[in-house]
Amino acid sequence: MININQVNNNLLPRIKSSLPSNVYLVQSFDELQEVIKYRRNYYQDGSPEVQMFHDDGFDEFSYVFYVRDDDGGIIGSARLLVDSLTGLPEESILPSAVHDLRRSGKKLAELGRLLITGDKSKTLSLLYNVVYETAKIIDINYILIVMKKSNVSSHEKMMKIKTLSENMGLSWDEEKKELCLISWDINAESEKFLRFSQRYVNNKQFEEWNDYSKYHFGVFLSVQHEVYSSVSTKCVGNVLDLGCGSGRIMGFMKENLNVKSYTGIDYSKGMIDLAIQYKENLDYQRAKLILDKIEHVSGKFDTIISNLSYYSWGNKNKCLEVIKDSLLDEGRFLLVTPNNQFDIPKLANLVKREAFGHPYYNEFLSINYHIANTVEYPSLDELISQVRLAGFAVEKAHKEFFLGGVSYLELRKMS
Ligand SMILES: C[S@@+](CC[C@H](N)C(=O)[O-])C[C@H]1O[C@@H](n2cnc3c(N)ncnc32)[C@H](O)[C@@H]1O
Repeated sequence: MININQVNNNLLPRIKSSLPSNVYLVQSFDELQEVIKYRRNYYQDGSPEVQMFHDDGFDEFSYVFYVRDDDGGIIGSARLLVDSLTGLPEESILPSAVHDLRRSGKKLAELGRLLITGDKSKTLSLLYNVVYETAKIIDINYILIVMKKSNVSSHEKMMKIKTLSENMGLSWDEEKKELCLISWDINAESEKFLRFSQRYVNNKQFEEWNDYSKYHFGVFLSVQHEVYSSVSTKCVGNVLDLGCGSGRIMGFMKENLNVKSYTGIDYSKGMIDLAIQYKENLDYQRAKLILDKIEHVSGKFDTIISNLSYYSWGNKNKCLEVIKDSLLDEGRFLLVTPNNQFDIPKLANLVKREAFGHPYYNEFLSINYHIANTVEYPSLDELISQVRLAGFAVEKAHKEFFLGGVSYLELRKMS
């Protein structure tokens, strides 16, 4: 096992759950060997600098990420090394600006060993996405990067960077270009960077939701009924529903007179189109449906809900951050999501009992098998620690829905 996983064990579930599909975090010695082999295959030069590049000994203490293509081959990798008393690989030539940052208590990490052999812009976007998300989770202030001077201006356009040293030697690839050291301020939000780094996260997933939408809308089980009925009665004021899907809960919301307005947001066009039809059919005038990502939510709400959607959020940290910003101080966030006791055979029996003979029966069952078999659901305790880390206090928690397989949390913002 890689050392870093033991040291930061409690943060690993969050890091792993923020990885977009096709991006992986090295967690075993075999995986690390595969990444090292990938680097060695590319840089076959036997010069001392290149040997040093391969064997600096820091890999086992770093977060090493890699991207696979659809055929399973590695097409990119990067390494995020957290600064420690051991120092960074370039310790002997680091400028005083780095020591100043250390002295002022800033938490630093170095992004290095960046290699991309597949689709350049997509792989870079995915790697920057995971590096940024991980830095946020482990609370890094600045990421240091040794880069070719010629690459500085493209980075400047996207994120807040500062050149700390112009004298980091020459690149040892064929180009022999001048290198510099930059610091990247992780907490300086940049809309441009977020757009760049989220470009390839989730897209495939939303196409799958489009395909699923009519079956999702068409089959309505007692376990869903129970969730919608219970959650909707807890809602008050202006309500925001994240990952609202086909808006099945709207019929229940409309009946709750404490609900002033309902806003559903979902990034699947198939789902939102059905939700709009349903709203019109219900003649629910206080309902509004928005085709967008949860990550882009704005406005303030008394109640925010999310039913059976959280597990699929590509960027959970960003979503939780946005939820905190959009929730009024006295507001409540009701989160309902499958847990590790989600019992597929038992639930399949229930589907059989309630939906056999329905024209969508087979598709509904097979899509739900597919989802449940591809996702790793967190236990109730893991979910609680994820939301606590994001700044929420838990007021109520249970796992009574879906025969025990779905967790329910009632949350408010930590004061
Ligand atoms: C299983 S459906 C749940 C729908 C609904 N809440 C319900 O209980 O019937 C999950 C939905 O979450 C949506 N979703 C997942 N991640 C999202 C994101 N980041 N932004 C917007 N929608 C998202 C998907 O498009 C999908 O429609």
